[in-house]
Amino acid sequence: MTLLPWSERFKLGIPAVDHEHKELIDLINTLHDQLGRQPAKDEILGFLEEINAKINAHFALEEKVMRGLKYDELDAHKGEHETLLDGIRDIMDRAETAPFSELEADLAGQLETWFGRHFATKDARLHHFLEDKGIDEETFARENPDA
Ligand SMILES: [Fe+2]
Ligand SMILES: [Fe+2]
Repeated sequence: MTLLPWSERFKLGIPAVDHEHKELIDLINTLHDQLGRQPAKDEILGFLEEINAKINAHFALEEKVMRGLKYDELDAHKGEHETLLDGIRDIMDRAETAPFSELEADLAGQLETWFGRHFATKDARLHHFLEDKGIDEETFARENPDA
């Protein structure tokens, strides 16, 4: 069963952003499914690395844009990113020793808060702010390498 199906309530109505957010949620769902199959530990660790890298890159881009634009909610938004990344690193540490059932429960327990809420609040505000200004994140980051 899918842990957190992509739903209308996560949608911001900005196709490129929605696409990326959906990809992140899909990755977590896939991880959750794999845990249920009792895979090899290495497989799970590798997958967690991949998720961590993708989410890191996604957050880093948002933070770069927020810094470059002196966005008023930078600190609060970045603070949530840090909490989310801590949570992932925590699961990565525990993946070495904890049984899969516990990791499954961790993912299930935190995913909704992590991603659902963050996307629907902090990211919604940021991405609509950027859309109003006609700013594309990738283009902004390319044009402002030092931000
Ligand atoms: Fe985002
Ligand atoms: Fe964000």
